[in-house]
Amino acid sequence: MDFILRPWCFDDVDCLIKYGSNPRITQLMSDGFSNLFTTEKATAFIGFANSGNDKLYRTIEINGEASGGIGVMLQTDIYQKNAELGYWLAEPYWGNGIISRAIKMIVEDAFQTFDINRVYATPFATNTASQRVLEKAGFTLEARHFKKVFKNGEYLDELIYVKLR
Ligand SMILES: CC(C)(COP(=O)(O)OP(=O)(O)OC[C@H]1O[C@@H](n2cnc3c(N)ncnc32)[C@H](O)[C@@H]1OP(=O)(O)O)[C@@H](O)C(=O)NCCC(=O)NCCS
Repeated sequence: MDFILRPWCFDDVDCLIKYGSNPRITQLMSDGFSNLFTTEKATAFIGFANSGNDKLYRTIEINGEASGGIGVMLQTDIYQKNAELGYWLAEPYWGNGIISRAIKMIVEDAFQTFDINRVYATPFATNTASQRVLEKAGFTLEARHFKKVFKNGEYLDELIYVKLR
């Protein structure tokens, strides 16, 4: 299945809300993401995604629609050589290898764009599909942070997956 990574634009607001607000997605993401789905907040997110020079935030376009998001965010201070990776995909397209390929593309772009030596991602320990895509994209499990996450009234372990330059 074909897809492209491209910058978000304001015309993507409706698709962002339609696909991103799916509880099967939001339950595996931060509360910041889960609370994005009003026109006002989704519009503000797209403005943020295209601001500054500390991030590469892209939408995953499939069949002409913004059908997911993937991004890396540069860290600061003593963590300035790190970037954090995050991603989600519209449910109709799960299981086609799209995110595994998209991670490889954005990580390569991040290592070319930023003077960083480490990209990391922090899936919940319950999110086996996300762990699998990170492994397929060449990431290594580095650590488990016990009960670090509090999501939907539950404590969850967080995993740290890393790819060094
Ligand atoms: C996780 C997610 C991004 C995966 O996207 P995707 O394009 O479907 O992923 P891929 O097709 O590249 O790979 C999925 C892999 O996970 C496996 N997988 C899927 N569901 C699984 C499950 N419940 N348990 C174990 N493995 C699972 C698939 O078999 C596949 O591995 P394989 O190629 O070895 O068979 C997508 O499911 C999603 O958006 N989930 C909700 C949001 C989310 O979890 N974001 C990440 C937060 S850290």
